Amino acid sequence: MTILGIETSCDDTSIALVKKNAEGFKILSNVVSSQIKIHAAYGGVVPNLAAREHLKNIEPCLKQALKEAKNPDIDLIAVTNGPGLIPSLLVGVNFAKALAYSWQKPIIGINHVKGHIYANWLDNPKIEFPVLALVVSGGHTQLVLMKEHDQYNLLGETRDDAAGEAFDKVAKLLGLGYPGGPIISERAEKGDSQKFNLPRPMIHRQNFDFSFSGLKTAVLYEVKKQNPEKINDQYINDMAASFQQAAIDVLVYKTIKAAKEYRVKNVILSGGVAANKELRNQLQKTVKKELNNVDFQMPEIKLCTDNAAMICAVAFHKKKPISKQSWLNVNANSNLKLFT
Ligand code: KG4
Ligand code: ZN
Repeated sequence: MTILGIETSCDDTSIALVKKNAEGFKILSNVVSSQIKIHAAYGGVVPNLAAREHLKNIEPCLKQALKEAKNPDIDLIAVTNGPGLIPSLLVGVNFAKALAYSWQKPIIGINHVKGHIYANWLDNPKIEFPVLALVVSGGHTQLVLMKEHDQYNLLGETRDDAAGEAFDKVAKLLGLGYPGGPIISERAEKGDSQKFNLPRPMIHRQNFDFSFSGLKTAVLYEVKKQNPEKINDQYINDMAASFQQAAIDVLVYKTIKAAKEYRVKNVILSGGVAANKELRNQLQKTVKKELNNVDFQMPEIKLCTDNAAMICAVAFHKKKPISKQSWLNVNANSNLKLFT
């Protein structure tokens, strides 16, 4: 079975072809067209500009994806229908519907957050349940318990900014540009993570919720009280490292606590912030050290950020018979919940 995936929920246009065979999943193509250069000038994603770029890029992406995959027979079209920016989602959803109609193929709408979680199954189709997924992206920070495929129990989530959003905002206030995650992690490598004593918000609360806006504000106050002449490269590296470590401490602590409480067999990491090397290393090490007989999975870095192969991965694990889905029922929903 081969699925064509389409992802346009934010600022990446992506089309993928993924095939399932006896050994697992084979990514035949996974074309991603990034709009970073366009949005960087505005310090963040401008929704209408993103939609315009998706419209320009989606057809060339499809052509390239089909060519790289050597034009396979397609059994199903899977498209991200939420959550995300509505102008962006509408481009992908309407493009997918037009393809489904003209090619006479079934179509299914896929939740973007589930896509991030299922990126883990592309590498390893035999992940054992129960699974605890830490989803950390630009729009979401969630701890999700899965007892079986396509079943999600939200244990906790951020009450304000998402982890990736905090990386982006801190980078902006340090004058590092957009997107902040990759730049903060690069600068943090050269900094001292103990230099500034930043808060670890909500770390001692009993629940599994997060909060990152106070951490960002703490960075802002530190920077404001500093003599501007002393804000040099080393100061920025130290601040980036201290902020990154504070965010990682909270993410790792709460994930380990939830994994113990729910006695999971696997901890999986996903979402754009999962591309962060320190988070990858520290969570992996802590799972190994503190949890007996629990495995740890994370997607390869290029499958952490938005891409359409992860959307195909969700479609392969749907319980409902896909042939019964009609293109009329697939609609964009910017607030789509994990359970729909
Ligand atoms: O999952 P994603 O591609 O898009 C959303 O669904 O939001 O995540 C994008 C987010 C951005 O906030 C970006 O700054 C962050 O992921 N990110 C990182 C890294 N690479 C991307 N954050 C920390 N470290 C990184 N290396
Ligand atoms: Zn995403």
